[in-house]
Amino acid sequence: MTQPSEPTLQSLLPEPAENADDPADIERPFEIRVADRISHLPPYLFARINQLTYQKRRAGNDVIDMSMGNPSDPPSQRVIDKLSEAANDPRNHGYAPALGIMSLRREVASRYLKKWGVRLDPEGEVISTLGSKEGFGHLCLAIIGPGDSAIVPAPSYPAHVYGVALASGKAVLIDTTDPDRYLSDIAKTCETIQPKMVIVNFPHNPTATVVGPDFYRDVVKLANRYGFMLVSDLAYADVTFDGYESPSILAVDGAKRFAVEFTTMSKGFNMAGWRVGFCAGNREIVRALGTIKTYYDYGMFRPIQIAAIMALRHGEADVAEQAKVYEKRRDVLCDGLARIGWNVTVPKASMFVWAKIPEPFASRMTSMEFATKLLEEADVAVSPGAGFGAAGEGYVRLALIENENRLRQAVRQIGRALGDELKVAASQREAG
Ligand SMILES: Cc1ncc(COP(=O)(O)O)c(C=O)c1O
Repeated sequence: MTQPSEPTLQSLLPEPAENADDPADIERPFEIRVADRISHLPPYLFARINQLTYQKRRAGNDVIDMSMGNPSDPPSQRVIDKLSEAANDPRNHGYAPALGIMSLRREVASRYLKKWGVRLDPEGEVISTLGSKEGFGHLCLAIIGPGDSAIVPAPSYPAHVYGVALASGKAVLIDTTDPDRYLSDIAKTCETIQPKMVIVNFPHNPTATVVGPDFYRDVVKLANRYGFMLVSDLAYADVTFDGYESPSILAVDGAKRFAVEFTTMSKGFNMAGWRVGFCAGNREIVRALGTIKTYYDYGMFRPIQIAAIMALRHGEADVAEQAKVYEKRRDVLCDGLARIGWNVTVPKASMFVWAKIPEPFASRMTSMEFATKLLEEADVAVSPGAGFGAAGEGYVRLALIENENRLRQAVRQIGRALGDELKVAASQREAG
């Protein structure tokens, strides 16, 4: 009996159509059908402001851009020199370990101990990520799947919502602007659904809401009671003002049973473009993230990791100085806005002022319309609150990334554009 022969690649391909070379056939429109996970994403609301800013700049206008939390100051020269020295070493150009070189992870553990009194095993409880955004997105892929839900702070840093959505999970949005209410709403939600993961983000982007250590103690208790994993996004840990220090969830006894935390060198260390972030905490969650990462990336360029070690080891004074820079900008902006009749909440941390749209504009304009007005009439770009979800409507977010003089100029231009209407509304409020 003869054995059936193995199929060849050729035999698996479809028969060529008789008229395969017909030019009409080649020109037939081809529909690109992307995956549902892409087509289901909502439109990117910041695109309109970005496009308008671009057009204005092309037309020669000097737009003062406060729309994005993109640090505009450089890292310390020492760190740049270290990067260049390491890049000049021919041994540093191959693939680096996907989860970060051990000496970098050790440095992160040592910073956690110094800053928050948290002990971490650098081998099993810390990994480096290509910025915390990549880490968070891949963490969602590692622990969320179809049918899972995750509680996400609202208004929302978009990557929190879409990280969950791209992992086929359901994002349950809960208002985070009052941390006590956030806790009680989490508890209420857990009575009806069983979230697999809860995200906490303080200092919060976009609202700059902060918490004290008690908040983390309470949320860890809830995780214990309801059995969810906790992900803390501590991106703004290093940008704090007026003596406020942002606590770490990992400092709570027992937190490592459920929690991981993301930190980053983007904000306090001015290394946003370098893409250096970390995930630390629960071993199994960290391991799951590591597993996903080894399938998707090869880890950070080794000279960046080497320079990041230098920054972590010797950079605390630079970080403190940079926080002072943001604090001064905050004062210039908040005081200036108050002078033109726009009173805003003064943030204790983060790179943002989350400003309620003032009357009379609030009652007749959406946040997108108000942001467009500021751009068109004041040459000042801000982010419309609606870009952070429905809970952000009624607000705009101003990032403290321009220097003090530019901020003073921005206030003057906003004052001119909003004109007397703002002053009249403010004095009517005072009078009655
Ligand atoms: C709350 C929050 N998390 C994470 C990130 C991402 O930071 P990274 O540069 O580390 O990816 C940002 C950046 O704006 C942020 O605002």
